[in-house]
Parts: sequence; structure tokens; C-alpha cells
Amino acid sequence: MMNQGEGSEQQDLLDFKPLSLDYSWAFIGADTRYLTHDIHRYPAKFIPQVAGRIIREYSAEGEVILDPFCGSGTALLEARLAGRNAIGVDVNPVAYYVSKVKADPIEPRKLEALWRRFSGKLNPPYFSRVETYQLPGKALRILEAWIPERQLEDMRRLFTLIMSVEDRGFRDFLLVAFSNIQKECSWWSMRSVKPVRDYGKNVPSVIPSFIRQAERMIMKNNQLWSKLKDSETWVKVFRADSRILSTLIEDPVDLILFSPPYVTSYEYVDLHKLSIVWLEETGDLGGLKRSFIGSARSKPRGRGVRSRTASRIISMLGRRDEKLGRAVEAYFEDMEASFSEMDKVLRSNGIVAMVIGNTRLRGVEVKNAEALAEIFLDMGYRLEKTIKRPIPGKNLPTARDPKTGRFASASSTATLIYPYEYILILRKT
Ligand SMILES: C[S@@+](CC[C@H](N)C(=O)[O-])C[C@H]1O[C@@H](n2cnc3c(N)ncnc32)[C@H](O)[C@@H]1O
Repeated sequence: MMNQGEGSEQQDLLDFKPLSLDYSWAFIGADTRYLTHDIHRYPAKFIPQVAGRIIREYSAEGEVILDPFCGSGTALLEARLAGRNAIGVDVNPVAYYVSKVKADPIEPRKLEALWRRFSGKLNPPYFSRVETYQLPGKALRILEAWIPERQLEDMRRLFTLIMSVEDRGFRDFLLVAFSNIQKECSWWSMRSVKPVRDYGKNVPSVIPSFIRQAERMIMKNNQLWSKLKDSETWVKVFRADSRILSTLIEDPVDLILFSPPYVTSYEYVDLHKLSIVWLEETGDLGGLKRSFIGSARSKPRGRGVRSRTASRIISMLGRRDEKLGRAVEAYFEDMEASFSEMDKVLRSNGIVAMVIGNTRLRGVEVKNAEALAEIFLDMGYRLEKTIKRPIPGKNLPTARDPKTGRFASASSTATLIYPYEYILILRKT
């Protein structure tokens, strides 16, 4: 759809706003936590029903679905439930482990036996003699700043036990349980998505929290196993940058489905700091931060961007805040790099389905959907369908601070965002 009333120079800019909302995609009141979908917290998750419906409508059984920004693996699980195979890629180590464990259940009898043996070691007489895990000094200092001494000591013993597990699938399962209790068993304020300490918090003991989490995951694993036990589908997860997709994926995929990172919204490394320090066994997080697309710290390479909507946004923002303008330019450059890799691995006539909302930064409307769609159109794709989906749930933050553009509580003077989002269906021609 074109922007009609604007000057000739802007005639070819996309504008999805006039579309009416399609309530059939809203899934009001739907249960989003079924099976293994809620084994681990993750920001800006897909609504599983949205991913599931896209997969069913735009691919066939036995085909391969790729989510190049797979996050917690929602699309991967939905793909398998729909009889499709799934490949997930994400640069976040937390996403890698959660996606694997979420979409690839362990045979229940094997899991029960492994858990029985493992949980036996959590009893005080044995557990108190387990060595505390040795982490690099910088990693330990980060953990000490967030976790009370008693909890940290228990976590270090527990980590020693987890890392000594030989079965890779079970070790990953335990790592996900361990990762998900980090916020609960530290001073991390549970009321905040961002890293904020709450020293008044009553921090629970590690072992009971871990056992509760693992037992919940076992129940969900077993439910998923009974759904997938006769399925011949598979899932592969890569911890990698989506800008190198073609080096990871050999055979062409049929459908690429994703929700991209947003520009300057979440600093995923900060949000998952405690988990990442353990999983990567490092306190040096700078290099990892730079590999995330959308970071406020990113700098453009100055190649210029293909989307005219993106160019306009960059110059409007740049006039108000030079640094922010540069971060947004880097974001669009990085998304372009990722899209050209997607193009290399998608079969001809294949579909790209993108779920995305627009945002506002420094009073400038950041039309992510239009800008990102324009990149695909420039690459020769055809926009087959644009769905404007109302967002009834609370999976995404609903407000931004008007000064900083960062997520804020809905009660502040923030501007409401994401009352709806777009689902763009693009076909490779
Ligand atoms: C909106 S989230 C996706 C959430 C996902 N749809 C789900 O249901 O959990 C965007 C994801 O992009 C990932 N990401 C950011 N930069 C990346 C990069 N360079 N390569 C791969 N993934 C990246 C983030 O780690 C985050 O998980």
C-alpha cells in the first residue's frame, strides 16, 4: 500500500497503518503456556498460536521451517507440533539452550531415571561435600554483586554437579532449569524486566527452587513427549549470528518465520546477564554484546541502507539525537545483512513471514514493518499479505519513556506502543 497524499519523492514508501485490524489473529484469552512453552522466561516471545497458524497456512507437513532469531524457540516447537521440521538460530546462549530443551523432549523413562540419580545428590550430606565450581575472577565478581553469599555457594556446588553430567541432553535440561532460577534466587527485582537489584527481597534457597523448576519441566517434557512420540520431525538449533546463516544451513528451507530484534529496545546480554555468566563461564560480555543486532551501542559501517523508509527514519532521528540515529542506521544495515543470508537459504518460491510492531523513539515513528518489508521488496520479493494483528496479551511491554525511548512502566508518562503488530507474508519470486 502506498502513501498517497505525500510528495512525489515519497510515493513508493509503504504505509500499513490504514489497514484494519484482523481480530482472527488476536487469540484473545488463549493459553500461551501450554506444553514446554513456558519452561523459561524470555522477553518478546511469539504468541504460540500466531506462530502455529502461520506455519500451518504457509507450509506443508514435512517441510523445513527456519527461525533465524529463534529466542526461546516458540516457532520451533510449533513447527514440530504441526508436523514440520525446524531450524533455529540465535546469538544468545540462553536462547540456544532454552530452544533445544523446549523443542526436543527427552524420553520420559530415561529422564525419570537420570533425574532420580541426579536429585539424590542434592541431599544435604552429599551436597555439602560437593566442590564449589571455579569460575574466572571477573565472572565471579559479577555473580557476587547480584547473588547473596549462601545462594551463590549453593549455586556453585549445583553447577559442579550439572557440569559433571555426561548425557548432553539431560545436562542441557538441567542448565535451563538452573538458568531460570537465577533471577528468583538473587537480588534481581522480579518486578523489573531490566537488571535492577532489590536488596529488601526475601531471596529463596537455591535447591528447593531448582527442584521445583526441574520437576515442573519434567512434567511438561513428558506431556510434549506423548504428543511427539510418533513424529518423524526433527529440530536443530545453532548458537550463531543470523548474518552467517548460509554457512550453517546446507539444504534450502521452505518457510522463514521470525520476529526480529527491535532497535535499542532490549539489551539481551544485560537481561540474561546472570545466566550468560554461568553458561559461558566468563565475565567478559563486551564481545557477545556486539554480536546482537539492535544494540544501542552499535555503530554503522556507513554502507547506506536500501529502504527509503529506513533512510527517512535515520535522518529524522539523527537530527534529534546523533548517537541514536547512528544506532538505528546500524540496525537497518545489520538486518539487511541478515536478510540477504535468509535469501541464500530460502528455496525459490519460499515464504518469509515476519511478525513485527512499529515503535516510537524521540518522538519519531520507527516504522520497522514498512522499512523491513521494503528491504525484501528491493531484493525482488513480493508482498503477498499484510495482517494487522491486535495485541491483547501482555507478552510485550506496552510503554516507552518519551525522553529515552526505552521501555517504561505503563503508569509513567510513557507513550503506549504495540497496540497492534504486523504479520508480513513475503514470497521469494
Ligand atoms: C524478538 S526476539 C525473538 C523471540 C522469539 N520469537 C520467541 O518466541 O522467543 C529477537 C531475538 O533476536 C536475537 N538476536 C539478536 N541479534 C541476533 C543476531 N545477530 N543473530 C541471531 N539472533 C539475534 C535475540 O537474542 C532475540 O532472541
